[in-house]
Amino acid sequence: MDRDETKLNFYFCNPPADVSLDDIDHGRLPRHISIIMDGNGRWATSRGLDRSAGHEAGVKSLRETITACVRLGIDNLSAYAFSTENWKRPQREVDLLMALFAKTLVKELPLFHRENVRLELMGDLEALPERTRKTFYRGIEETADHTGMTLALAVNYGSRAEIVRAARELAQECAAGTMDAADIDADAIASRLYTANVGDPELLIRTSGELRLSNYLLWQLAYSEFYVSDLLWPDFDRWELLRAIKSFQSRERRFGGVVSK
Ligand code: FPP
Repeated sequence: MDRDETKLNFYFCNPPADVSLDDIDHGRLPRHISIIMDGNGRWATSRGLDRSAGHEAGVKSLRETITACVRLGIDNLSAYAFSTENWKRPQREVDLLMALFAKTLVKELPLFHRENVRLELMGDLEALPERTRKTFYRGIEETADHTGMTLALAVNYGSRAEIVRAARELAQECAAGTMDAADIDADAIASRLYTANVGDPELLIRTSGELRLSNYLLWQLAYSEFYVSDLLWPDFDRWELLRAIKSFQSRERRFGGVVSK
């Protein structure tokens, strides 16, 4: 992905003491970064605020992360915004989140146009309230020709449901005679997942110190490097993103093999 060095240096000027752009090897950036944005509720309640204030504050972190990834030249960014299990939250919180998704998307569309970001959605959008669903479809449609970074948002997403969906699709193709069961391999499954276009994340970031996958990208994270940040999502910023990339670059990725010396 092309990057503008002037804009990049400007965006990352005035770094904190422990990390800067110089710590990053720009030739070895992860092509796909994925984020479990966790801790919005705790961020808000620790300030005596309603949980929804945490989600609103989380939008700022997402915007900063999108811009930082564009500046760095990351090809694909994905983020877990709403899981299939999140419907169990109080109705008021669910309603506020759905309204926030629609509002945010409308507000951020100019950013996507300006930064050439293409929007993709992972998950079953049909269950979303009409306004939210239509706004997402509009975002996908309006950014379809953008050639810069792809932003894949997981909304009403559950990894097991995603794998079940792919298995069903393959079973139907076998029943229809367009697929032979003997030809089903890892690529056949991967190409039927929501990530068919963005591929597997090389780096997964989870905020708020939690050590769980929470039914997120179970297939796709098989060989990803994990970075767990103690920051709550609304406190996540461009510098913590650099720390995560720096940590990623310090790892030896072996994919189950050994590294030849
Ligand atoms: C997890 O924190 C966060 C969410 C369930 C929602 C994340 C959504 C946003 C940041 C808004 C993004 C906007 C768009 C358009 C995608 P939590 O509520 O589980 O926090 P807790 O663990 O502290 O309770």
